[in-house]
Amino acid sequence: PKVTYITPAGDEVVVENAEGNLMTAAVENQVTGIDGDCGGVCSCATCHVHVDPAWTDKVGPATEAEQGMLEFEDGVEDNSRLGCQVKLTSELDGLVVRVVGR
Ligand code: FES
Repeated sequence: PKVTYITPAGDEVVVENAEGNLMTAAVENQVTGIDGDCGGVCSCATCHVHVDPAWTDKVGPATEAEQGMLEFEDGVEDNSRLGCQVKLTSELDGLVVRVVGR
């Protein structure tokens, strides 16, 4: 799917044909603010994003494991997700997320 990342600096990075999950696609495309330090196993929170309000229903809420990681992060909102836990499917074509960064 096509995914738009808004970086912490406010730049828009559009990734056409994003693959994998929100973290891997961001790392592959050098989106600043998403590091993916743990390799995508929900244990670092360097892939924290805010899902655009128009997309929260489709993307769904953070899982319990994500909430456990996010507990210690700044800038956590109801629409917070860990990018590595959001699998990219064609359903999410057009998705917009804001990168929280650290
Ligand atoms: Fe570490 Fe997502 S990459 S929690």
